[in-house]
Amino acid sequence: MSTGTSDTQRMAFVTGTSSGIGTALAMELIERGWEVVGVSRRPAPFLHARYTHMTFDLADLDVAIEGIQAYFDDRLPDPRWQRIGLVNNAADGSSMGPIENLIPDELRQVYTINTVAPTWLMGYFVRRCQSRTTLRIVNVSSGAAVRPFPGLATYGGSKAALRMAGMCFAAELESPLRSGGPRGDVTILSYEPGTVDTAMQVRARSTSDQDFPWVGLFRTLHSQGALRSPKDPAIEIANYLERDGHDRFTERRLGA
Ligand SMILES: NC(=O)c1ccc[n+]([C@@H]2O[C@H](COP(=O)([O-])OP(=O)(O)OC[C@H]3O[C@@H](n4cnc5c(N)ncnc54)[C@H](OP(=O)(O)O)[C@@H]3O)[C@@H](O)[C@H]2O)c1
Repeated sequence: MSTGTSDTQRMAFVTGTSSGIGTALAMELIERGWEVVGVSRRPAPFLHARYTHMTFDLADLDVAIEGIQAYFDDRLPDPRWQRIGLVNNAADGSSMGPIENLIPDELRQVYTINTVAPTWLMGYFVRRCQSRTTLRIVNVSSGAAVRPFPGLATYGGSKAALRMAGMCFAAELESPLRSGGPRGDVTILSYEPGTVDTAMQVRARSTSDQDFPWVGLFRTLHSQGALRSPKDPAIEIANYLERDGHDRFTERRLGA
């Protein structure tokens, strides 16, 4: 698929490019001719002339924001960008277990990575990009954002909050009262990738029954071969970034 633009007119910022869906997406976009910038604590497992990696811990938000702004402040308003993608993919799924056992520091960390950083990034990107630049935002969500799973209060709550932040942002963009003038083609997708064969799933099904009594769900999904390849969501997200004519806010729920 092509938007008919040259390679250097499309740039995407993908968080969490060191593994799983983020790696697959960065590689997919590079293959399609995009310039890609990624962020994670570990390096990305590939090198490419059109890929730039930032090494930040999104839980250390002030440092990460400073680094992201230092890189993007001058680049985002560059008039050569016809299309910019922001994919809030990085997430922490580690805080699993009964709500009465949750540790405040873990809660804070998960919400910082899964909710605070991506919500801030949405506002930062729309603020810095030229109003004529098409902006596509994808917030990688989860079935746990819309359905209550026992033991996933932290993760599900953080994803539900991000989903709603995207909906509120879309409503703001539709509102004539929004300051900053009218915005052109900015759309937001809250995307549920389904159950994907990544390190996050490995960690989930490796949790002890004692810490996470509901771990059987993840083990069953794996033993039934129900996991998708990360390449599948990568293609779906890349297609969304490249297409026009989206509603201001959309969400895709697999199986819905
Ligand atoms: N796999 C599934 O079945 C599934 C289902 C529903 C939704 N999702 C969502 O899909 C997205 C991608 O997850 P995945 O399955 O691909 O998992 P993954 O392989 O574990 O990838 C997570 C990515 O997030 C990055 N990340 C985590 N904490 C970070 C931090 N503090 N600072 C910077 N980067 C951080 C990781 O990089 P570093 O560790 O190097 O920092 C890694 O690149 C997540 O939003 C997840 O919630 C996955």
